[in-house]
Amino acid sequence: MVAAMVSRMTLAEKVGQMTQAEIQSITPAEVRQYHIGSVLNGGGSWPNNDKHATPSAWLALADAYWDAALAADGAVKVPIMWGIDAVHGNSNVFGATLFPHNIGLGAARDPCLVRRIARATAEQVRVTGQDWAFAPTLAVVRDDRWGRTYEGFSENPAITRAYAAAYVAGLQNAGEDEGEDEGEDEGEDEGEDRSVRRLRGVLATAKHFIGDGGTAEGRDQGVNPSPEAILREVHGQGYFGALGAGAQTVMISFNSWTNEQLGIREGKVHGSRYLVTDVLKGKMGFDGLTVSDWNGIGQVAGCSNFRCARALNAGIDVFMVPAEWRQFIENTIQLVGSGEVPMSRIDDAVTRILRVKLRAGLFGARRPSERRPAGDAGALVHRELAREAVQRSAVLLKNNGNVLPLARNQKILVVGKGADSFSVQTGGWSLSWQGTGNTNADFPTGETVLAGIRRVVGDANVTFSATAQGVDPTQFGAVIAVIGETPYAEGVGDIGRTRTLEHASRYPSDLAALNRVVNPVPGQGPPVVTIFFSGRPAYVNKELNRSNAFIAAFLPGTEAGSLADLVFRDARGRIGRGFTGKLSYSWPAAGCQTPLNVGDTPYDPLFAYGFGLGNRDQVTLRPLDETSPAIGCGQTGGGGTATQDLDIYVRGDAPPYQLYIGSPANWSVALNPDPSAVTTSADGNISVQTTDVAVQGDGRKVTWTGTGPGQIYSQSQATADLRGYLNARGALVLDAIVGQSPAGSVKMRVDCVWPCLGEVDATRLFRSLTTGVRQTVKIPLQCFAAAGTDMAIVNTPLLFYTEGAFQLSLANVRWVPGAAADPDATACDALVP
Ligand code: BGC
Ligand code: BGC
Repeated sequence: MVAAMVSRMTLAEKVGQMTQAEIQSITPAEVRQYHIGSVLNGGGSWPNNDKHATPSAWLALADAYWDAALAADGAVKVPIMWGIDAVHGNSNVFGATLFPHNIGLGAARDPCLVRRIARATAEQVRVTGQDWAFAPTLAVVRDDRWGRTYEGFSENPAITRAYAAAYVAGLQNAGEDEGEDEGEDEGEDEGEDRSVRRLRGVLATAKHFIGDGGTAEGRDQGVNPSPEAILREVHGQGYFGALGAGAQTVMISFNSWTNEQLGIREGKVHGSRYLVTDVLKGKMGFDGLTVSDWNGIGQVAGCSNFRCARALNAGIDVFMVPAEWRQFIENTIQLVGSGEVPMSRIDDAVTRILRVKLRAGLFGARRPSERRPAGDAGALVHRELAREAVQRSAVLLKNNGNVLPLARNQKILVVGKGADSFSVQTGGWSLSWQGTGNTNADFPTGETVLAGIRRVVGDANVTFSATAQGVDPTQFGAVIAVIGETPYAEGVGDIGRTRTLEHASRYPSDLAALNRVVNPVPGQGPPVVTIFFSGRPAYVNKELNRSNAFIAAFLPGTEAGSLADLVFRDARGRIGRGFTGKLSYSWPAAGCQTPLNVGDTPYDPLFAYGFGLGNRDQVTLRPLDETSPAIGCGQTGGGGTATQDLDIYVRGDAPPYQLYIGSPANWSVALNPDPSAVTTSADGNISVQTTDVAVQGDGRKVTWTGTGPGQIYSQSQATADLRGYLNARGALVLDAIVGQSPAGSVKMRVDCVWPCLGEVDATRLFRSLTTGVRQTVKIPLQCFAAAGTDMAIVNTPLLFYTEGAFQLSLANVRWVPGAAADPDATACDALVP
């Protein structure tokens, strides 16, 4: 039957089926004209760009696409699918209950709970009219610096495999409730494979195939260097679970699979015929469809976002080409015409797409708005289930003196930025892509921790101060501090190679709030109970030491308030079942302790995989080491020790470095090579001319007008491993004449390819220099490393930025080994406003 349909389709219709456009970039009329097979909405993309879009607004658009697809003029009328990132509930939709992110579900160790959540999620997705959820993420996360750590269930593939099956079964809800009449048209031919029953939920997506959780240094979209056995036994396990449960779609991962030493050179998985066709569709027997990730084909060598023979030939069936879908269609038709992509490959892709649509019961299905429970806003809300999940996923890490659970009848001080913040408790992929830009008003259903505490102990007993400034903790029976990471998604959340896992260095205000409530006299004052929201385990020894009890609550979603029911005794003063969560990720004992995974030798975590206290466990956590890595991680031990100066600007640019200026209109303007010329930035905020500093014509005079931001910097096309200069106690050294003292603050940076950078404040330093007098400035490289520069990949060894008026002549710019130890070197802590 599928073969017969495919044979009646034109090439344009076939390529249309393979095309997935984003809802902001395609109208229903275009869906009809181009025979589009599917659409998606990206994170933070809603109908009419309305964050508060109602179910009926979602359904109106879904119906419009549906009707348009069926009104197309092809011989075969193929229904359209709409995919959505429903990754912790229907998480992009206003009014939906958001469940804990996967990292928390991992701690619950309960596939049945996961199945129920996935089933509820499918219901939520049907409310707004989509057919396809881009979930579950099956990454087995091996380096918690990765910004998507929270999207993985665990570092242990066994959990991921079991949950994958449960999640897919729950979302697809296939063939269950036989007796129930779902009210859909029955009796349609379901295609060649009658063993797959019509879905009563939505299609699931096993993503991202394969190896996303195993990239080096936890880099998003990075390189997985694993041998094939690890790829299969660790990163591949979730796919066995998902495929076994009937997953019909697999999303391809942004990462590469490359290891020169092992002779593995697959590169981007989007271009790997071996992984997509030979392994997934061949060895693993997957007969559903593969979908590329957001512009993922553009990252394949030799490809662009809309033209990629290699990805087509690798075996990708549906192409997520959000904006440039028209060019994709044109180019793909050309590639078939030129023979670069065989027609048989197109037919295979379309066969798979139609097969999935048949199995999902889309042929002959009713319009999205007519499928149960479409439009029922009440079906977006699953509070009880979410509350159960929140409680099951919280892990009790410390409970000295068994302070938890607290008595109800006492005055409670609540502090911390996370206590009254849906944004902090829901994290990324919540209404918006990054989870940023949300206020409490954006979450009409749910409960913050503060609200939960008020519900349990009564308003009159609760005092709240987010910063804890000016409060007297001794007036209270107990303090509850709710702290944590602020939202992020994907690579934005990467910690990177050199920044640390130390929470206090990334979020100093959390530690400051704790310091305000902790009693200076140990053993006196109220106990401090800390609830920690995070998308990953973090190095929190300082916070642990300041807390009598400490709960890792991960990113619990909209019902975080139900944590209050765990923190307090019940109304009759009983202890109750309490905490049951067990870590599904190992917890670090030091700021640079990553990767850290169960089974490593040696394995020396602070809290091992599987750790989690129960209410009755009597375990005392002794004071912990609070050492913080002074210059970040991975900054030493590589690159040897430099012995010679690194010239940057010495009587001219020292290749490969070249000076540029920039301002908002254009951040990168190369200096005019003519020494007599003046170079001015696009909006005139900064200009540069040749000048004399130590000798004739050796320097550049930089003038900031004070009319807006401007920067001057030296950059190379390639990055260099300059750790040897750090190892050698090097400093950035330059001869400087201040012509006009800085009116605003002066920042200096060393960049490791923006936005990787380390910035210091040199305002005080340059204000202290006598105007008109040449002086040598030495800034230890360690100051930049501590501020975030990854010295292994430096491309910009010098940068000055200011917004106010300032004039500076500079010459002889170098990195000099040993100069940080000179008595006239600037101390890092003198680099302040
Ligand atoms: C993410 C996917 C997501 C897709 C659509 C990508 O950037 O990697 O997980 O499904 O965007 O929003
Ligand atoms: C979209 C996300 C997508 C991301 C990829 C964003 O603009 O909203 O869905 O994952 O781009 O870079």
